[in-house]
Amino acid sequence: MCIGTHYINMILYFCNIEQSYTNDYMKKYLVTGGAGFIGANFVKYVLAKWGSDVEILILDALTYAGNPMTIKEEIELPNVQFVKGDIGDRELVTRLMEEFDPDFVVNFAAESHVDRSITNPRLFLETNILGTQNILDCARKAWLDGTDDQGKPKYREGKKFLQISTDEVYGSLTKDYDTARPLEVSDEVERVIEGRKNLKTFGRGFFTEHTPLAPRSPYSAAKTSADLFVLAYHDTYGMPVNITRCSNNYGPYQFPEKLIPLIINNILEGKELPVYGKGENVRDWLYVADHAKAIDMVLREGRIGEVYNIGGFNEEQNINIVKSIIDIIARIMREEPTYRRLLRHPERPIDYSIIRYVTDRPGHDMRYAIDPTKIATELGWYPETPFTEGIEKTVRWNLDNQPWIESVTSGDYRKYYDEMYGNR
Ligand code: NAD
Ligand code: TYD
Repeated sequence: MCIGTHYINMILYFCNIEQSYTNDYMKKYLVTGGAGFIGANFVKYVLAKWGSDVEILILDALTYAGNPMTIKEEIELPNVQFVKGDIGDRELVTRLMEEFDPDFVVNFAAESHVDRSITNPRLFLETNILGTQNILDCARKAWLDGTDDQGKPKYREGKKFLQISTDEVYGSLTKDYDTARPLEVSDEVERVIEGRKNLKTFGRGFFTEHTPLAPRSPYSAAKTSADLFVLAYHDTYGMPVNITRCSNNYGPYQFPEKLIPLIINNILEGKELPVYGKGENVRDWLYVADHAKAIDMVLREGRIGEVYNIGGFNEEQNINIVKSIIDIIARIMREEPTYRRLLRHPERPIDYSIIRYVTDRPGHDMRYAIDPTKIATELGWYPETPFTEGIEKTVRWNLDNQPWIESVTSGDYRKYYDEMYGNR
């Protein structure tokens, strides 16, 4: 397959045909962190979209957040390979860049949980900053192709490094309204909200690509630092890069340390539902497949050196997210009683009485809200999954995939849960 790709590239080269980012020839993706939540969903999305027109190499250290079960079917395909390893391993990444020779490096690998960054910030520097710098540098060396007429570094055609970043690099927006107000958007981004009613917002401001970087947690500080390295590699070495900054994702295969899968899992376990502070913080939720679609569009069509924000105008307060999950699970248990077998304590109620307000997260960002005008107007991206549909699918996925949940909640998860929530 490698030989085939080289052969096509050589023909394109000799015919002097410019290789565009739309899909007219086989693309090779190195996906780091591809056994984690978003990385794995991205791999699934790319395979569903492009089939055997892509080759994928997944590099993942399989930390507590990475699970080979998530990509079990994919790594059995002839066009997908998996390597267990650290993005910070210079020798390994150099070898993979040489041997696999990817067109795209998509860096999902990271420590991704704010609460863990508060207890162990150092690890976040190592993975998120040093690890990112390592793969950036290995990609730079592998893709370098001499210099241009002005002596500036030149890179092989069609190569791109994409850093998967987060809206959290912008810090916190103010929550200007206690009760949400109707959201009005410009005609340019109408497609982003197509078919959805009752759009709302909790504030006047939104994150655009020009919003100053102002991270407030060790996690977001490390992600911001990585972003700055990616941009520095573009400015200094002319490296072909993009950065995407997405809002909170939800969907299948999310580790139950994050709000939505944690709440679903706790309901099934018959535990209380920990809501930080007053539950008034606002997040902008996007279904993970819509994020995956945006990433692939940026890889193939994004302008080199640009940052793209990704989000679908879906703000909600945490307490309402928790209540809607309770409502969905209560309904499913009522209407489809066979699911009651999943309840560890069927005698316990599934209603708002199980919500427990707990000590707030230190430095808890109040509100995130993305303005997706740039990606919507430049690349034509729009989300396809309204929240009501996405949350129903996510709850059902969790109910229907208990072996996966058990594989990640046995062992260290219990210890983590007790340490994080035991005395809260
Ligand atoms: P995740 O924690 O579920 O997955 C991270 C993956 O990276 C895991 O498979 C883990 O094993 C792997 N990994 C960790 N350290 C590694 C290392 N040193 N070398 C190789 N692999 C390593 O995270 P996620 O939620 O899928 O997030 C993926 C990326 O998207 C992160 O960079 C995160 O900052 C970003 N992001 C996440 C969200 C969200 O809502 N989850 C939103 C916006 C951006
Ligand atoms: P989380 O899923 O950790 O994502 P992030 O902190 O990156 O936004 O948390 C989402 C929101 O839910 C955040 O405001 C913190 C809150 N939260 C709770 O109230 N209880 C919980 O147990 C967790 C994990 C999060």
